[in-house]
Amino acid sequence: MKTLILKPSVVNIQRCADEIKKGELVAFPTETVYGLGANGLDIEAVKKIYIAKGRPSDNPLILHVPRFKEVYNLAREVRPYAIELAKKFMPGALTLVFKKKDIVPKIVSGGLDTVAIRIPSNPIANLLLQKCGCPLAAPSANTSTKPSPTYAMHVYDDLKGKISYILDGGMCDIGVESTIVDVTGDVPKLLRSGQISVEDLQTVVERVEVNTDQSVALSPGMKYKHYSPKANMLFSAYYEQMHLTIINYYDKMKAQGKKPVIICLNFNKEKYGTREIISIGDTMADYAKNIFAALRFADKKQFDNIIAEGVCSDGIGGAIINRMMKASGGQII
Ligand code: TXA
Ligand code: MG
Repeated sequence: MKTLILKPSVVNIQRCADEIKKGELVAFPTETVYGLGANGLDIEAVKKIYIAKGRPSDNPLILHVPRFKEVYNLAREVRPYAIELAKKFMPGALTLVFKKKDIVPKIVSGGLDTVAIRIPSNPIANLLLQKCGCPLAAPSANTSTKPSPTYAMHVYDDLKGKISYILDGGMCDIGVESTIVDVTGDVPKLLRSGQISVEDLQTVVERVEVNTDQSVALSPGMKYKHYSPKANMLFSAYYEQMHLTIINYYDKMKAQGKKPVIICLNFNKEKYGTREIISIGDTMADYAKNIFAALRFADKKQFDNIIAEGVCSDGIGGAIINRMMKASGGQII
Protein backbone atom coordinates (compact mmCIF):
# COMPACT_ATOMS: atom_id res chain seq x y z
CA MET A 1 0.00 0.00 0.00
CA LYS A 2 1.35 3.42 -0.93
CA THR A 3 1.03 6.04 1.81
CA LEU A 4 0.33 9.58 0.64
CA ILE A 5 0.86 12.69 2.74
CA LEU A 6 -1.94 15.07 1.75
CA LYS A 7 -2.27 18.83 2.11
CA PRO A 8 -5.37 19.50 4.22
CA SER A 9 -7.48 21.02 1.43
CA VAL A 10 -11.24 20.57 1.58
CA VAL A 11 -11.01 18.14 -1.35
CA ASN A 12 -8.39 16.04 0.45
CA ILE A 13 -10.31 16.10 3.71
CA GLN A 14 -13.32 14.77 1.78
CA ARG A 15 -11.09 12.09 0.22
CA CYS A 16 -10.05 11.01 3.72
CA ALA A 17 -13.65 11.01 4.94
CA ASP A 18 -14.55 8.72 2.00
CA GLU A 19 -11.69 6.41 2.96
CA ILE A 20 -13.02 6.25 6.52
CA LYS A 21 -16.52 5.49 5.26
CA LYS A 22 -15.05 2.55 3.30
CA GLY A 23 -13.81 1.12 6.61
CA GLU A 24 -10.19 2.18 6.16
CA LEU A 25 -7.75 4.14 8.35
CA VAL A 26 -6.62 7.77 7.98
CA ALA A 27 -4.09 9.72 10.05
CA PHE A 28 -5.00 13.30 10.85
CA PRO A 29 -3.65 16.20 12.91
CA THR A 30 -5.18 17.31 16.18
CA GLU A 31 -4.06 20.09 18.53
CA THR A 32 -2.46 17.48 20.82
CA VAL A 33 -0.86 14.78 18.64
CA TYR A 34 -1.67 13.10 15.31
CA GLY A 35 -4.48 10.54 15.49
CA LEU A 36 -5.03 7.32 13.56
CA GLY A 37 -8.74 7.32 12.80
CA ALA A 38 -11.30 4.68 11.88
CA ASN A 39 -15.10 4.58 11.99
CA GLY A 40 -15.58 3.98 15.70
CA LEU A 41 -18.82 2.09 15.20
CA ASP A 42 -17.36 -0.33 12.63
CA ILE A 43 -15.74 -3.26 14.40
CA GLU A 44 -13.74 -4.42 11.38
CA ALA A 45 -12.37 -0.90 10.81
CA VAL A 46 -11.38 -0.53 14.47
CA LYS A 47 -9.55 -3.89 14.35
CA LYS A 48 -7.29 -2.38 11.69
CA ILE A 49 -6.15 0.30 14.18
CA TYR A 50 -4.95 -2.30 16.67
CA ILE A 51 -3.15 -4.19 13.90
CA ALA A 52 -1.51 -1.11 12.34
CA LYS A 53 -0.24 0.13 15.71
CA GLY A 54 0.54 -3.26 17.21
CA ARG A 55 -1.59 -2.19 20.15
CA PRO A 56 -2.75 -4.54 22.95
CA SER A 57 -6.47 -5.18 22.53
CA ASP A 58 -7.39 -4.38 26.14
CA ASN A 59 -6.26 -0.78 25.67
CA PRO A 60 -9.42 1.19 24.78
CA LEU A 61 -9.69 3.96 22.21
CA ILE A 62 -11.00 7.50 22.42
CA LEU A 63 -14.00 8.36 20.23
CA HIS A 64 -13.69 11.75 18.54
CA VAL A 65 -16.79 13.73 17.62
CA PRO A 66 -17.21 17.23 16.14
CA ARG A 67 -19.70 18.63 18.67
CA PHE A 68 -20.96 17.97 22.18
CA LYS A 69 -24.50 16.97 21.29
CA GLU A 70 -23.10 13.74 19.80
CA VAL A 71 -21.95 12.68 23.24
CA TYR A 72 -25.57 11.84 23.99
CA ASN A 73 -25.58 9.17 21.23
CA LEU A 74 -22.65 7.39 22.83
CA ALA A 75 -22.89 8.03 26.59
CA ARG A 76 -25.53 6.61 28.90
CA GLU A 77 -25.27 9.17 31.64
CA VAL A 78 -24.04 12.76 31.40
CA ARG A 79 -23.69 14.46 34.77
CA PRO A 80 -24.25 18.22 35.11
CA TYR A 81 -20.63 18.84 36.13
CA ALA A 82 -19.47 17.01 32.98
CA ILE A 83 -21.50 19.47 30.93
CA GLU A 84 -19.83 22.35 32.77
CA LEU A 85 -16.39 20.91 32.04
CA ALA A 86 -17.34 20.47 28.40
CA LYS A 87 -18.60 24.04 28.17
CA LYS A 88 -15.26 25.34 29.35
CA PHE A 89 -12.79 22.94 27.71
CA MET A 90 -14.47 21.42 24.66
CA PRO A 91 -13.57 21.57 21.82
CA GLY A 92 -10.02 21.14 23.09
CA ALA A 93 -7.50 18.89 24.75
CA LEU A 94 -9.89 17.27 27.20
CA THR A 95 -11.22 13.71 26.99
CA LEU A 96 -14.15 12.72 29.19
CA VAL A 97 -14.94 9.14 30.17
CA PHE A 98 -18.67 8.33 30.42
CA LYS A 99 -20.71 5.17 30.93
CA LYS A 100 -21.18 3.85 27.42
CA LYS A 101 -24.26 3.04 25.41
CA ASP A 102 -24.51 -0.35 23.66
CA ILE A 103 -23.87 1.28 20.30
CA VAL A 104 -20.18 1.65 21.30
CA PRO A 105 -18.49 -1.63 20.32
CA LYS A 106 -16.54 -3.52 22.98
CA ILE A 107 -13.45 -3.37 20.79
CA VAL A 108 -13.46 0.42 21.26
CA SER A 109 -13.96 0.31 25.02
CA GLY A 110 -11.47 -2.52 25.52
CA GLY A 111 -14.24 -4.49 27.18
CA LEU A 112 -14.97 -1.73 29.72
CA ASP A 113 -18.44 -0.35 30.42
CA THR A 114 -17.22 3.17 29.68
CA VAL A 115 -16.31 5.26 26.65
CA ALA A 116 -13.77 8.06 26.30
CA ILE A 117 -14.90 11.00 24.15
CA ARG A 118 -13.02 14.00 22.81
CA ILE A 119 -13.87 16.97 20.58
CA PRO A 120 -10.70 18.22 18.89
CA SER A 121 -10.39 21.96 18.30
CA ASN A 122 -8.01 21.55 15.36
CA PRO A 123 -10.07 22.77 12.37
CA ILE A 124 -8.77 20.03 10.05
CA ALA A 125 -9.75 17.33 12.54
CA ASN A 126 -13.08 18.98 13.16
CA LEU A 127 -13.93 19.25 9.46
CA LEU A 128 -12.88 15.64 8.89
CA LEU A 129 -15.19 14.55 11.71
CA GLN A 130 -18.09 16.50 10.26
CA LYS A 131 -17.53 14.97 6.83
CA CYS A 132 -17.24 11.42 8.20
CA GLY A 133 -20.58 11.62 9.95
CA CYS A 134 -19.48 8.95 12.45
CA PRO A 135 -17.38 9.07 15.60
CA LEU A 136 -13.71 8.41 14.87
CA ALA A 137 -11.88 5.99 17.11
CA ALA A 138 -8.41 7.47 17.13
CA PRO A 139 -5.37 6.64 19.20
CA SER A 140 -2.13 8.52 18.68
CA ALA A 141 -0.84 7.60 15.20
CA ASN A 142 2.43 6.00 16.29
CA THR A 143 3.53 2.40 16.48
CA SER A 144 2.73 1.17 20.00
CA THR A 145 5.51 1.99 22.51
CA LYS A 146 7.04 4.73 20.29
CA PRO A 147 6.84 8.47 21.07
CA SER A 148 3.54 10.02 19.94
CA PRO A 149 3.65 11.78 16.55
CA THR A 150 3.55 15.57 16.40
CA TYR A 151 4.42 15.90 12.68
CA ALA A 152 2.98 14.12 9.63
CA MET A 153 6.49 12.78 8.99
CA HIS A 154 6.48 10.99 12.36
CA VAL A 155 3.32 9.18 11.30
CA TYR A 156 4.89 8.34 7.95
CA ASP A 157 7.99 6.92 9.65
CA ASP A 158 5.86 4.59 11.77
CA LEU A 159 2.95 3.66 9.52
CA LYS A 160 4.08 3.92 5.90
CA GLY A 161 2.72 1.06 3.84
CA LYS A 162 -0.02 0.44 6.42
CA ILE A 163 -2.41 3.33 5.66
CA SER A 164 -3.29 5.22 2.46
CA TYR A 165 -3.51 8.79 3.70
CA ILE A 166 -1.94 11.13 6.22
CA LEU A 167 -3.45 14.61 6.39
CA ASP A 168 -0.58 17.02 7.00
CA GLY A 169 -1.55 19.79 9.38
CA GLY A 170 2.01 20.76 10.26
CA MET A 171 3.29 20.65 13.79
CA CYS A 172 0.80 19.96 16.59
CA ASP A 173 0.18 22.96 18.86
CA ILE A 174 0.27 21.25 22.25
CA GLY A 175 2.42 18.17 21.69
CA VAL A 176 1.21 15.96 24.55
CA GLU A 177 -2.02 13.98 24.51
CA SER A 178 -5.30 15.18 25.99
CA THR A 179 -6.11 15.31 29.68
CA ILE A 180 -8.43 12.38 30.47
CA VAL A 181 -11.06 12.79 33.19
CA ASP A 182 -13.46 10.07 34.33
CA VAL A 183 -16.86 11.72 34.82
CA THR A 184 -18.84 8.59 35.73
CA GLY A 185 -18.81 9.23 39.48
CA ASP A 186 -19.84 12.00 41.87
CA VAL A 187 -16.33 13.42 41.77
CA PRO A 188 -14.33 13.76 38.54
CA LYS A 189 -11.18 11.67 38.47
CA LEU A 190 -8.01 12.55 36.58
CA LEU A 191 -6.86 9.52 34.56
CA ARG A 192 -4.14 11.11 32.41
CA SER A 193 -2.55 14.54 32.76
CA GLY A 194 -2.35 16.88 29.79
CA GLN A 195 -2.26 20.57 28.94
CA ILE A 196 -5.47 21.14 30.89
CA SER A 197 -4.22 20.86 34.45
CA VAL A 198 -5.97 19.96 37.69
CA GLU A 199 -5.91 23.67 38.58
CA ASP A 200 -7.69 24.41 35.29
CA LEU A 201 -10.33 21.76 36.01
CA GLN A 202 -10.83 23.21 39.47
CA THR A 203 -11.96 26.50 37.98
CA VAL A 204 -15.11 24.56 37.04
CA VAL A 205 -15.44 21.76 39.61
CA GLU A 206 -14.55 22.00 43.26
CA ARG A 207 -12.83 18.66 43.64
CA VAL A 208 -10.83 16.49 41.30
CA GLU A 209 -9.65 13.10 42.43
CA VAL A 210 -5.99 12.62 41.56
CA ASN A 211 -4.25 9.34 42.03
CA THR A 212 -0.71 9.89 43.20
CA ASP A 213 0.14 6.20 43.30
CA GLN A 214 1.98 5.81 39.95
CA SER A 215 1.93 2.03 40.28
CA VAL A 216 -1.84 1.86 39.68
CA ALA A 217 -2.84 2.14 36.03
CA LEU A 218 -6.07 4.12 35.96
CA SER A 219 -6.42 4.15 32.21
CA PRO A 220 -5.68 0.69 30.85
CA GLY A 221 -3.19 2.31 28.47
CA MET A 222 -1.14 3.77 31.30
CA LYS A 223 0.23 0.37 32.29
CA TYR A 224 2.01 -0.23 28.99
CA LYS A 225 5.46 0.81 27.91
CA HIS A 226 5.15 4.19 26.23
CA TYR A 227 6.94 6.87 24.31
CA SER A 228 10.19 4.93 24.42
CA PRO A 229 13.07 6.03 22.27
CA LYS A 230 15.61 3.40 21.24
CA ALA A 231 18.28 5.22 23.25
CA ASN A 232 18.53 4.58 26.95
CA MET A 233 16.76 7.52 28.54
CA LEU A 234 17.16 9.23 31.90
CA PHE A 235 15.01 11.99 33.28
CA SER A 236 16.38 14.48 35.76
CA ALA A 237 14.61 15.54 38.90
CA TYR A 238 13.96 19.28 38.91
CA TYR A 239 16.22 21.39 41.12
CA GLU A 240 18.54 24.35 40.91
CA GLN A 241 21.76 22.41 40.32
CA MET A 242 20.34 19.65 38.11
CA HIS A 243 22.76 20.54 35.32
CA LEU A 244 25.68 19.35 37.46
CA THR A 245 24.16 15.89 37.85
CA ILE A 246 23.31 15.81 34.17
CA ILE A 247 26.85 16.81 33.17
CA ASN A 248 28.29 14.22 35.50
CA TYR A 249 26.24 11.44 33.90
CA TYR A 250 26.91 12.73 30.38
CA ASP A 251 30.67 12.73 30.95
CA LYS A 252 30.56 9.26 32.45
CA MET A 253 28.75 7.93 29.37
CA LYS A 254 31.17 9.72 27.07
CA ALA A 255 34.14 8.18 28.91
CA GLN A 256 32.59 4.76 28.26
CA GLY A 257 32.61 5.50 24.52
CA LYS A 258 28.86 6.15 24.37
CA LYS A 259 27.13 8.94 22.42
CA PRO A 260 24.95 10.86 24.92
CA VAL A 261 22.77 13.92 24.34
CA ILE A 262 21.08 16.36 26.72
CA ILE A 263 17.55 17.68 26.18
CA CYS A 264 17.38 21.14 27.72
CA LEU A 265 15.59 24.47 27.68
CA ASN A 266 17.25 27.21 25.62
CA PHE A 267 18.23 29.34 28.56
CA ASN A 268 20.14 26.47 30.15
CA LYS A 269 22.15 25.45 27.13
CA GLU A 270 25.28 27.46 28.00
CA LYS A 271 25.60 25.44 31.19
CA TYR A 272 26.43 22.37 29.12
CA GLY A 273 29.37 23.92 27.27
CA THR A 274 30.34 22.01 24.14
CA ARG A 275 28.36 18.88 25.02
CA GLU A 276 25.73 17.62 22.57
CA ILE A 277 22.32 19.10 23.30
CA ILE A 278 18.86 19.20 21.79
CA SER A 279 17.31 22.53 22.68
CA ILE A 280 13.62 22.10 23.40
CA GLY A 281 12.59 25.78 23.29
CA ASP A 282 12.05 28.60 25.74
CA THR A 283 9.02 27.68 27.82
CA MET A 284 7.24 24.74 29.42
CA ALA A 285 4.73 24.89 26.57
CA ASP A 286 7.66 24.51 24.15
CA TYR A 287 8.96 21.57 26.18
CA ALA A 288 5.60 19.80 25.81
CA LYS A 289 5.29 20.73 22.15
CA ASN A 290 8.75 19.49 21.17
CA ILE A 291 9.47 16.60 23.48
CA PHE A 292 8.25 13.72 21.31
CA ALA A 293 9.97 15.21 18.24
CA ALA A 294 13.17 15.53 20.30
CA LEU A 295 13.05 11.86 21.31
CA ARG A 296 12.53 10.79 17.70
CA PHE A 297 15.33 13.13 16.56
CA ALA A 298 17.73 11.64 19.12
CA ASP A 299 17.02 8.18 17.71
CA LYS A 300 17.52 9.37 14.13
CA LYS A 301 20.91 10.75 15.15
CA GLN A 302 21.67 7.43 16.86
CA PHE A 303 22.46 8.79 20.29
CA ASP A 304 22.94 6.04 22.87
CA ASN A 305 21.78 7.98 25.92
CA ILE A 306 19.26 10.77 26.30
CA ILE A 307 19.32 12.84 29.48
CA ALA A 308 16.30 15.15 29.72
CA GLU A 309 16.13 18.13 32.07
CA GLY A 310 13.48 18.01 34.76
CA VAL A 311 10.66 20.54 34.99
CA CYS A 312 8.51 21.81 37.84
CA SER A 313 5.13 20.14 38.15
CA ASP A 314 2.94 23.24 37.72
CA GLY A 315 0.49 23.47 34.85
CA ILE A 316 1.58 21.47 31.83
CA GLY A 317 4.69 20.40 33.80
CA GLY A 318 2.63 17.57 35.31
CA ALA A 319 1.97 16.16 31.85
CA ILE A 320 5.61 16.52 30.82
CA ILE A 321 6.81 14.69 33.93
CA ASN A 322 4.25 11.94 33.35
CA ARG A 323 5.41 11.39 29.74
CA MET A 324 9.11 11.60 30.65
CA MET A 325 8.69 9.11 33.46
CA LYS A 326 7.21 6.68 30.98
CA ALA A 327 9.72 7.40 28.24
CA SER A 328 12.58 6.78 30.67
CA GLY A 329 10.96 3.74 32.23
CA GLY A 330 11.16 5.63 35.54
CA GLN A 331 14.95 6.08 35.37
CA ILE A 332 15.49 9.28 37.32
CA ILE A 333 18.74 10.99 38.18
O1 TXA B 1 -4.87 13.74 22.63
C1 TXA B 1 -5.30 12.59 22.56
O2 TXA B 1 -6.05 12.10 23.41
C2 TXA B 1 -4.88 11.77 21.31
C3 TXA B 1 -5.50 12.41 20.07
C4 TXA B 1 -5.24 11.60 18.81
O3 TXA B 1 -6.86 12.63 20.27
N1 TXA B 1 -5.31 10.40 21.46
C5 TXA B 1 -4.72 9.53 22.31
O4 TXA B 1 -5.19 8.24 22.21
O5 TXA B 1 -3.83 9.85 23.07
P1 TXA B 1 -4.39 7.00 22.82
O6 TXA B 1 -5.16 5.81 22.34
O7 TXA B 1 -2.98 7.07 22.40
O8 TXA B 1 -4.58 7.14 24.34
C6 TXA B 1 -5.86 6.98 24.88
C7 TXA B 1 -5.79 6.68 26.34
C8 TXA B 1 -5.25 5.30 26.66
O9 TXA B 1 -4.36 5.42 27.76
C9 TXA B 1 -6.49 4.53 27.04
O10 TXA B 1 -6.22 3.50 27.95
C10 TXA B 1 -7.37 5.61 27.63
O11 TXA B 1 -7.13 6.73 26.82
N2 TXA B 1 -8.81 5.28 27.55
C11 TXA B 1 -9.56 5.12 26.45
N3 TXA B 1 -10.81 4.77 26.77
C12 TXA B 1 -10.87 4.71 28.10
C13 TXA B 1 -11.88 4.38 29.05
N4 TXA B 1 -13.10 4.04 28.67
N5 TXA B 1 -11.57 4.43 30.36
C14 TXA B 1 -10.32 4.78 30.76
N6 TXA B 1 -9.32 5.09 29.93
C15 TXA B 1 -9.58 5.05 28.62
MG1 MG C 1 -0.96 6.81 22.47
